[in-house]
Amino acid sequence: MGHYHKAITIFLICSSFLYPPTNGYIKIKLKKLKPNHPSRVMSLTESSHSVRARGEINPNEPNGSDIVLLKNFMDTQYYGEIGIGTPPQMFTVVYDTGSSNLWVPSSKCFFSMSCYVHPKYSSRMSKTYMRNGQYAEISYGSGSISGFFSKDTVKVGDLVIKEQEFIEATTEPGVAFMSGKFDGILGLGFKEIYVGNATPVWDNMVQQGLVKDPVFSFWLNRDANEEKGGEIVFGGVDPDHYKGNHTFVPITQKGYWQFDLDDVLINGKSTGYCQNGCSAIADSGTSLIAGPTSVITEINKAIGVETFAGQLQSKSEELSDRSLGTMGVSGVDCANVSSMPNISFAIGGKEFVLSPHEYLVKVGEDDQASCVSGFMPLDIPPPHGPIWILGDVFMGCYHTIFDYGNLRVGFAKAA
Ligand SMILES: *[C@@H]1O[C@H](CO)[C@@H](O)[C@H](O)[C@H]1NC(C)=O
Ligand SMILES: *[C@@H]1O[C@H](CO)[C@@H](O)[C@H](O)[C@H]1NC(C)=O
Ligand SMILES: *[C@@H]1O[C@H](CO)[C@@H](O)[C@H](O)[C@H]1NC(C)=O
Ligand SMILES: *[C@@H]1O[C@H](CO)[C@@H](O)[C@H](O)[C@H]1NC(C)=O
Repeated sequence: MGHYHKAITIFLICSSFLYPPTNGYIKIKLKKLKPNHPSRVMSLTESSHSVRARGEINPNEPNGSDIVLLKNFMDTQYYGEIGIGTPPQMFTVVYDTGSSNLWVPSSKCFFSMSCYVHPKYSSRMSKTYMRNGQYAEISYGSGSISGFFSKDTVKVGDLVIKEQEFIEATTEPGVAFMSGKFDGILGLGFKEIYVGNATPVWDNMVQQGLVKDPVFSFWLNRDANEEKGGEIVFGGVDPDHYKGNHTFVPITQKGYWQFDLDDVLINGKSTGYCQNGCSAIADSGTSLIAGPTSVITEINKAIGVETFAGQLQSKSEELSDRSLGTMGVSGVDCANVSSMPNISFAIGGKEFVLSPHEYLVKVGEDDQASCVSGFMPLDIPPPHGPIWILGDVFMGCYHTIFDYGNLRVGFAKAA
């Protein structure tokens, strides 16, 4: 064959109140130019067991806050460990600020391949399990799940949440979640977008008095080779992972962590797109930055995407026509980094700059790396849209405080 294939999986895990669900995640194979390079496919279907995260506890943390360490897979998936039940059954989850439910695969999941490559929750093995049984179904940008509600003790880091509702997933159709390094999703969005009639994990943490301050904060490492992939502090902020002060903006609509975006700039020059106001959400479950096609096209053109668009092959059997039409991931030549522009977002009167090194996602090793633009087009129709989704590419660069008590988000340069 002689082709040099590499693949990257881009997740879009905000819940799909925003837009109709697509047929799955986005997986693009990048075909390298050099034909005689050894074949090296990033396996995306290997068992997740080998990369289970360790939910380490920092003994120096004062009571009322807790640090959860995250693993970083290729700068596109960040996940950490939780325990459900007594004794705790361990799962890795994406801590997703773009949705509000918690789900893990169920031992009663028999017909989805995905359930066979991930650990499954068994209520029979838990002394604290409480039955509910109500049917539940959730759609994300990257696929859907269905199952039923159960209640049990959930352990996040050192915090023990009692009688937490969660979904035992019995179907995870398609390949979307099979290729994930994570087993389930723990939503950190507001109750307003919770599917079902119960209380999200974070609300319970606050209500059960487990956190001193009603805030949590994210640091995502953008060096996928480092041991520490990132961390979430529940109940506080880790001063080791940001520089300067945070710029705070109010939440404009409870549901997602949604706020006003004042401008989008290319090399300091306004695109003019936000003259009549723009809205954005901070979404840890989405790998890239997604925005309206018109602006994203302009940005990607400035980055130099167009030249290399021809090298992209999408795996069409995994992408519905609709997702092909509304989503796209674009490859660029890594060698051109030095000539690429800065892209910035004006938020709360401050410019948050992303340099090419910060907005490109690298696939593969240094001199043979392929690069993917961190900007992807996604048109969300009114009334919710248009809306920008500032995913891991942005949050990796800017440490983010989710201030639930004061209904605001804050960004500061990550360190
Ligand atoms: C934390 O709580 C434990 C009991 O839950 C107590 O023994 C300990 O002194 C507390 N530590 C701090 C720093 O407040
Ligand atoms: C951060 O804010 C404090 C006041 O709240 C101020 O004294 C300090 O100079 C600020 N630091 C920076 C780096 O702007
Ligand atoms: C990328 O770099 C090559 C040479 O290194 C150059 O010919 C080409 O014009 C560059 N493309 C862009 C979009 O800057
Ligand atoms: C891009 O931003 C960096 C700082 O983040 C700055 O040093 C550099 O001069 C900027 N480049 C351009 C072309 O504005």
